[in-house]
Amino acid sequence: MTRVGSEAIRETFLGFFEKNGHARIAGAPVVPKNDPTLLFINSGMAPLKPYFTGEVTPAHPDLCNYQACIRTKDIEDVGDRHHLTFFEMLGSWSIGNYFKDHAIELAYGLLTDGFKLKPSQLYVTVFAGDPALGIPADEESAAAWERVGISRDHIVALPAEDNFWGPAGNSGPCGPCTEVFLDTGDAFGPAYVPGGEFDTKRRYIEIWNAGVFMQFNKGLDGTFQPLPFTSVDTGSGLERLELALNGLDTVYESDLLAPVVTSVQEMLGETGEIQRHHRLIADHMRASTIILADGARPSNEGRGYIPRRLVRKCVTVALSRGHDTLNFEPVLDVIIDRLGPHYPRIAGGRDMLTEVIRAERDDFGRTVRRGMERLDGIIAGKGAIDGADAFNMFATYGLPVEITKEIAAERGVEVSLDDYEKEFRQHQVRSRGVAETASGPKHLKASDVLPGTIAKLPRTDFLGYDGLTTQARVLAILVNGNPVETLESGVPADLIVDRTPFYAEGGGQVGDSGELVGTDAHGRITSTLSHSSGHSTHHVTLIDGSLAVGDQIELSVEAYARVRTAANHSATHLLNAALRRVLGDHVTQAGSLVEPERLRFDFTHPTPMTAEQIEATERLVNDWILTGAKRHVDIMTPDEAKAQGAISLAGEAYGDEVRVVSFGSMSKELCGGTHVDHTTMIGSFRITTEQSVAAGVRRINAVTRDGAINYALEQTHTLREVSSVLRSNPRDAAVAAQRLLDRVNRKGSGAAEAGQPATVRPTLDTTVGDVRVVAGKLNAEMPVLRTEAQRLSAEHNGVVMLWNTADNGKTTVVVSLAPAVAARLNATAIVRDLTGRVGGSGGGSPAIAQGGVPALPAGTDLGQELVTTITALTAA
Ligand code: SER
Repeated sequence: MTRVGSEAIRETFLGFFEKNGHARIAGAPVVPKNDPTLLFINSGMAPLKPYFTGEVTPAHPDLCNYQACIRTKDIEDVGDRHHLTFFEMLGSWSIGNYFKDHAIELAYGLLTDGFKLKPSQLYVTVFAGDPALGIPADEESAAAWERVGISRDHIVALPAEDNFWGPAGNSGPCGPCTEVFLDTGDAFGPAYVPGGEFDTKRRYIEIWNAGVFMQFNKGLDGTFQPLPFTSVDTGSGLERLELALNGLDTVYESDLLAPVVTSVQEMLGETGEIQRHHRLIADHMRASTIILADGARPSNEGRGYIPRRLVRKCVTVALSRGHDTLNFEPVLDVIIDRLGPHYPRIAGGRDMLTEVIRAERDDFGRTVRRGMERLDGIIAGKGAIDGADAFNMFATYGLPVEITKEIAAERGVEVSLDDYEKEFRQHQVRSRGVAETASGPKHLKASDVLPGTIAKLPRTDFLGYDGLTTQARVLAILVNGNPVETLESGVPADLIVDRTPFYAEGGGQVGDSGELVGTDAHGRITSTLSHSSGHSTHHVTLIDGSLAVGDQIELSVEAYARVRTAANHSATHLLNAALRRVLGDHVTQAGSLVEPERLRFDFTHPTPMTAEQIEATERLVNDWILTGAKRHVDIMTPDEAKAQGAISLAGEAYGDEVRVVSFGSMSKELCGGTHVDHTTMIGSFRITTEQSVAAGVRRINAVTRDGAINYALEQTHTLREVSSVLRSNPRDAAVAAQRLLDRVNRKGSGAAEAGQPATVRPTLDTTVGDVRVVAGKLNAEMPVLRTEAQRLSAEHNGVVMLWNTADNGKTTVVVSLAPAVAARLNATAIVRDLTGRVGGSGGGSPAIAQGGVPALPAGTDLGQELVTTITALTAA
């Protein structure tokens, strides 16, 4: 067999799609932009998500490219035949243009014409359908494959776990897919027999996800919504394709990886066969290279923890095999030479990459060497590692428990993790909650009492009402809650300074984040807390340089985040005042949270707000915003504040002087938070949800500024979609929907059977003890009542009852419990008790039950009956 190299494969794939009208686009960096649902780009489609959802329209509908991908899910398996942390994906897409038939024609063309594979070597899988998802079997794809020349007995239907792809991350576009497998022949196991098992482990190797048929958008709440149009997404791992096309044994023999693996072996001065640890270091170094080149930096949290973990693993593996002087540079050189031509950011980043990897190696190498000596000493002494040892490795040498486990495993020794957890918890108690976690050190909590020496320092002077930047002096540095004199880069710490513009978390408002710059230091402050001693701690990690107690630094708050937080805080005050106007003076604040992205406000009110009340509140707040009222701050005694009618928090202790924040005559509140200069800076205000949190306490979530505008646009988009489905104009959508529902009900079939979503307006939404209880009437047949009740009970995480009264007067009732509630209550018991009291009967399972009442006694309030039943059953 003549060998085809990765370059030829890359060009055959992309050239074929270009020839067939696809535009070749550039890949994206592996560090996602604006996608908090993903740690790293993990497939070719991930950076293109906004195309699939219709938020952005590409210049050309049909596209192709190669995309660097990082997958950390199977990191423990790296070094075997085909697992890689970093791989390249060849991909092609049709955004809202062609669909299954043409995608499969193209796929067949590339496989047979482009890669010269014989149809007899190819097997394809298609989606077998899934009643739970409500998606039927993909007969169209099967038929399309047959039409182009794949025989029926080479087409295998598989369930959702194999053939429903996505989303990339926990939400986003997804759909059924069709995959292509190469038959590697009888030497690798028995041939597939239709109806039998399809062995995708040995004999049949997946080479291409030749079509994800994007049809759905999975929401963060787990529900699937149809996308505005259908699209095609295909992807093939380049290294895997090279393995399959050349009959290689492992992906590490691909010409992209083999030179790197060899350079690792040379670096270690080893000879003979390539071993797993050579492959592992090659993979981890390649992955670190692209992650660093794309802008992430080693750290103990989030994305930065991955390159740190990867480099540390390489250091540990090499050291544990007795290699003391580690010089990764030659390996890095080979990686840069191989990847550089395709990734200019790697080619241009040589110095930075060498430097960062060297620094990580040196930092970690020193500690890990001492740790390993100690570990070897323990193993030699008692032949085992217990949890206390593992914990000491961590506390003393910074050796994460997973690395201790790995070293121990290489010595054939197991670590008992039960004891480790126990030690860990005891340590947390000893240090009053200031403890390291397995994924890195943890910072102080607001409830932590600072060490005595610190508490004696002058209190922190807060200057952040008037400015966002200040010169300050470092008074103390705490690492894991313990005072230290100096701080090196990469170590998370808490900093106390004499004066700061950073607002410390309090009064519901989150602490500020921002930057620190010193003569020889640059760091990021991710949160700020205040302590009972009157000190603010700034949680900081230096990106470069070092810092010592006594240093002069400049502190700058991230202005955009601050302005958004301030807008949300001022909006919270206006909301508080507006609710009193709309609902009455009984409204009192019961809690609040103010963040850059949103605000949450809890208040006392006995019943759910009506749609009209919500609208009136939104209108009033927005009217007030438009007045452009200036913010006024007055310092006065609590009595004066009371006399002026300022709103204060019940139960809150105030000092001799209070800060009163007011906006015109609309709002006056005692508050220590930061606010906008005038109300127009709030921009716009929208309530996103109104719900119950406890008996008599309601919760509003709301957004302002760009958040409010995005919310409004999303709603318009949904309404436009709904009206296009109903073929009405947006203004008449409700009438059109009602008409359709009436027609469906007249036909006697459930709304869901006609494919229309049923809607419920709960007439009861309350809590009994801590159980959420929701009830409502739904004009639909039993199957729809059941599905809706199940959906709603999951959504509200509580008890949901739906009922319907038919023309003949008979009432049907369904009660469904969310799993957490089903552990304590029983749906059958609820239905029996309730229907029994009103002359009916019922039964079912512990999680869902139904019942019937021939004729409800006049004046029966089923919602109230439900509350009575649940109160009785929870008391029992
Ligand atoms: N998104 C699909 C996959 O990753 C096809 O590219 O398999």
